[in-house]
Amino acid sequence: MSHAIAVLPGDGIGPEITAPTLELLNELGDFTFSEHPFGGASIDAHGTALTDETLDACRASDSVLLAAVGGPKWDTTDPSAPRPEQGLLGLRKELGLFANLRPVRPVPALYDSSALKREVLDGTDLLVVRELTGGIYFGEKTRTDTDASDLCHYTVAEVDRIARVAFDAARKRRNLVHSVDKANVLETSRQWRQVVHEVHGADFGDVELRDQLVDSCAMELIARPTQFDVIVTENLFGDILSDAAAMLSGSLGMLPSASVGNPDGPGLFEPVHGSAPDIAGQGVANPLAMFLSAAMMLRHGLDLEAEATAIETAVDGALADGLRTKDLGGDATTAQALDAVRGRLS
Ligand code: NAI
Ligand code: MG
Repeated sequence: MSHAIAVLPGDGIGPEITAPTLELLNELGDFTFSEHPFGGASIDAHGTALTDETLDACRASDSVLLAAVGGPKWDTTDPSAPRPEQGLLGLRKELGLFANLRPVRPVPALYDSSALKREVLDGTDLLVVRELTGGIYFGEKTRTDTDASDLCHYTVAEVDRIARVAFDAARKRRNLVHSVDKANVLETSRQWRQVVHEVHGADFGDVELRDQLVDSCAMELIARPTQFDVIVTENLFGDILSDAAAMLSGSLGMLPSASVGNPDGPGLFEPVHGSAPDIAGQGVANPLAMFLSAAMMLRHGLDLEAEATAIETAVDGALADGLRTKDLGGDATTAQALDAVRGRLS
């Protein structure tokens, strides 16, 4: 069976890292790719960052693979002008993607480029599951001349469904979930904790569950990252913790992400980095975060676990062989990075 992938190359280095990723995927299975304009490229062609045609094509696909959008060409102070980022927010919302997954897996060959010690990093392999569509970012906002407020609101249903994503992910990993909250202070956290335990008791008794306060989690992430497998948390805590955790692996050019949650529709898989306009068009972009995003797509979007692991192992192997693109302090081109990873696939 061929898997239908909607491909959104986007802007800047996007097309340069997309093409080798599709080549790599073609080595691993039967995929049908359809490419669609998105972000700045779509604004240029159609006057909007996300057209109905692109959205319909994404809805009809098994998975959506996105590179990056944006660039100085579309930076504007005119509030009515279309912006590339509107495409991102619109796509996540329209596809019902409420769970953001960010794995952090420092590669031994790159330990020296991390701010942390080798002994601390060694064996780190964790996944932050961040709730993406609720909490204080989406609560009621008020402001007068003398005060302002942001309301943090969660429904039981919103907590229930993100907990399930985390427990499911843990089953494919090391079967451990840390649920992170601030239950000593916040009512939303007390209910969060209760709901997570109810979901656990009802359907995921085989997975180990630990509660942790967010301030303690921040400290432990830097001090002893190897103790974590899956970390599940609400939107604001997840935003902060996932950026902190990301720094364990050193380079922006290495970090993949997934947005999932709608069982009846495709997930969205994309590198954490942006469109890097400063190096676009030179053929020197690091495609590894995009390769690893494709691996997440295989695992979380298409249930192709062996193929996902094959990409990750090949990336590790290529780095161990000495592959270094410019951002990693070397001079390998994007094309050479593809050759190195492809050569390690078998
Ligand atoms: P950026 O991530 O594009 O670049 C930051 C720095 O990292 C640059 O020096 C860039 O050359 C380097 N870099 C990033 N990815 C790289 C890669 N794969 N290989 C080698 N070097 C890489 O962030 P920046 O410069 O703040 O934003 C540039 C544009 O990207 C802006 O328009 C921004 O809005 C957009 N952006 C889009 C995102 C998305 O599509 N999800 C996320 C972040 C930014
Ligand atoms: Mg952030």
